Amino acid sequence: AKKNVGGRPIVVVGLMGCGKSSVGKRLAFKLNLPFVDADDEIERAAAKTINEIFADHGEAHFRAGERKVIARLLGNGPQVLATGGGAFINPETRLRIKDVAVSVWLRAELPVLMRRVSKRDHRPLLRDGNPEATMRKLIEERYPIYAEADMTIDSRDEPHDVIVTEIINRL
Ligand code: S3P
Repeated sequence: AKKNVGGRPIVVVGLMGCGKSSVGKRLAFKLNLPFVDADDEIERAAAKTINEIFADHGEAHFRAGERKVIARLLGNGPQVLATGGGAFINPETRLRIKDVAVSVWLRAELPVLMRRVSKRDHRPLLRDGNPEATMRKLIEERYPIYAEADMTIDSRDEPHDVIVTEIINRL
């Protein structure tokens, strides 16, 4: 990185399908930092998939676990941490991230998000009803909150490597 992030974790936030994991992995590789995926860590801690956690215990239980796991991970020092789309929306988690990390919002438009979420299956929020209507509602509700991140990166549907370079240039 050009600028010293002071050993703080870099936390990638944004909606489902915006590329948090793919971009986060490449960013970590370029910066020679460990990459951590919060959703994977939640699944590991619960010994269940995200779908199972939602189905067996409900969203509130998932959110409580998410909060705890992220608080723990943020204590691990320099890393690139990709978070699930709802993590930064929780006020307690957001304050903690703002306090100890550098946050990067990957902003993407609806068609890009919709194209990318069809590929993966850990998204119980999109399972019922009309996924596009749900996504549109999440954009409305969450974009003003993601905007509180330290850095906003507009994906413009660019290749991940271009996005990673832009992030590094702005660190
Ligand atoms: C969620 C996003 C998912 C996962 C869970 C809830 C959300 O992560 O944490 O399904 O509330 O936006 P991704 O953003 O990695 O898909």
